[in-house]
Amino acid sequence: MCADEAYDRIGYWSEIKLDILRKYASAYSKIMQKNSLHHVYVDAFAGGGRHFSLTSGELVPGSPQIALGIDPPFKEYHFIDLKETKIKSLREIAQDRADVHLYQGDCNSILLESIFPRIRYDQFKRGLMLLDPYGLHLNWEVIAMSAGMKSIEIFLNFPVADMNRNVLWTNPDRVDPRQRERLNAFWGDESWRGVAYTSQPGLFGEIAEKTTNQEVVEGFRQRLLNVAGFAFVPQPLAMLNSQNAVVYYLFFASHNQTGEKIVADIFKKYRKGGQA
Ligand SMILES: C[S@@+](CC[C@H](N)C(=O)[O-])C[C@H]1O[C@@H](n2cnc3c(N)ncnc32)[C@H](O)[C@@H]1O
Repeated sequence: MCADEAYDRIGYWSEIKLDILRKYASAYSKIMQKNSLHHVYVDAFAGGGRHFSLTSGELVPGSPQIALGIDPPFKEYHFIDLKETKIKSLREIAQDRADVHLYQGDCNSILLESIFPRIRYDQFKRGLMLLDPYGLHLNWEVIAMSAGMKSIEIFLNFPVADMNRNVLWTNPDRVDPRQRERLNAFWGDESWRGVAYTSQPGLFGEIAEKTTNQEVVEGFRQRLLNVAGFAFVPQPLAMLNSQNAVVYYLFFASHNQTGEKIVADIFKKYRKGGQA
């Protein structure tokens, strides 16, 4: 990735994510329109709106541009990014459309203060939100509040590679406390310790043993259901690189059973060897 440029270079796993978003957003928008609901698209880590594909070498639409092309259109679009270059690029793509709102800054505060209040369930508003950080840059409050609103469903990039690289080490005692804090902020508390490690008796007392990615991911799925309070969270999709290593897991969480069914069906088509 080249975060300081307007466009990132993306691997095919990102293109799969974008295909999934296109398919679901299109179905979602049709259903919302049919039910006369005011539906809103939110891209919290929006990027520049376009990317260079590492597969084709060409400029391909990113999530904001895909969302803008959905037919029937959403009633509002909200794109947030930290970087000025990305916002500038988004401004060019949006071309003064009155239904597009751009925000430069930290989505963790912008969502809570400026966007969620516009998506109230009792005002017949509904939202589809993509939370797609590079790593552990999202705060649990965003997830918990979006679940509590009942009006919002999310796609969430669960950044397992950042977790494993910086926090979930074989020897947890050697981890930098600042890295642990990043995971606490994402997970919402320290309960990830009980999910990511088991205690085994050793010669000199208890030894922490690392569990698998699947166990960590399932622990987080249970949090989305039981702590955040989403009603439906299908098994997430493992996004794999060319060496078959997991780059991240793509979660979907919703209060809507139809949404879950559609996404579970889409995920099924992209699963390799049935892995989570
Ligand atoms: C993985 S890219 C997004 C890609 C985009 N969703 C797509 O698929 O086309 C992540 C983006 O999040 C932005 N970002 C990082 N931290 C952020 C934060 N706290 N708030 C808002 N944007 C942030 C980065 O500048 C970067 O453009």
